[in-house]
Amino acid sequence: MTSRTPDPATMPVAELLRFDISWYLRPVAELAAMPRVGWLRILYTAWRFRGFRAILYYRWANVAARGGHRFISGFLARRMIKSTGAEICPTAHIGPGLRLPHSQGVIVSHDARLGAFVTLGQHSTIGGNFGRMGDDGRYFPTLGDGVVLTAGAVVAGPVHVGNGVIAGANTVIVKDVPEGAVVGGVPGEVIRISEEPTPGLAAARAMRGSDPGAAHVR
Ligand SMILES: CC(C)(COP(=O)(O)OP(=O)(O)OC[C@H]1O[C@@H](n2cnc3c(N)ncnc32)[C@H](O)[C@@H]1OP(=O)(O)O)[C@@H](O)C(=O)NCCC(=O)NCCS
Repeated sequence: MTSRTPDPATMPVAELLRFDISWYLRPVAELAAMPRVGWLRILYTAWRFRGFRAILYYRWANVAARGGHRFISGFLARRMIKSTGAEICPTAHIGPGLRLPHSQGVIVSHDARLGAFVTLGQHSTIGGNFGRMGDDGRYFPTLGDGVVLTAGAVVAGPVHVGNGVIAGANTVIVKDVPEGAVVGGVPGEVIRISEEPTPGLAAARAMRGSDPGAAHVR
């Protein structure tokens, strides 16, 4: 996660869910018009989108894990796997606005760091690489804002994936990727650098106030 990304550990879970849910229900351009998110809306979205249900489980499991309630976080994590097919470790650090269009087979390991408005396609995996350690002493990947992992993409080991990167289907990323890159292949190589930000990166910028009209998701 980049240093500019709001730290999910310090954001109230209701605020994180508000960003998550906004992205499910509204096009990015209309984020600013999103009304306050009540519990009925959260429950409706969870019923309608399996991917959002996974996020709901993860956010609460994360709160429980941070509070030291390992039994509760473990219970919620197991429910998530059973009900949605996704396996997001409660101790992963994930910024606001996570999106799982299809939750089946999504794996996020325990110390992975994801920025804001990241999209994870089905069977995408973010995890370690057999104990390989980075210069910063980390074992797990760091993804910037607005990153998109498409179907089956894998990010393994202590790599940094820049803001707005798109990983193509079945790509395996094992080394750092610069901002805005479209990556494909095994191992992943840069296909091109995109001038256009991904919708997630645009939303992350709007959230931080570089676009004052869309600074707050309410
Ligand atoms: C990676 C991706 C986003 C690139 O799209 P693009 O920028 O339009 O790229 P192009 O289709 O023009 O292909 C450019 C080059 O990259 C290669 N390429 C494209 N996707 C690739 C992939 N996943 N792995 C390896 N190489 C890939 C192409 O073969 C082409 O190579 P060439 O220049 O040697 O001919 C797209 O191919 C992709 O993988 N999309 C996944 C979509 C998905 O998961 N959908 C599921 C929805 S449920």
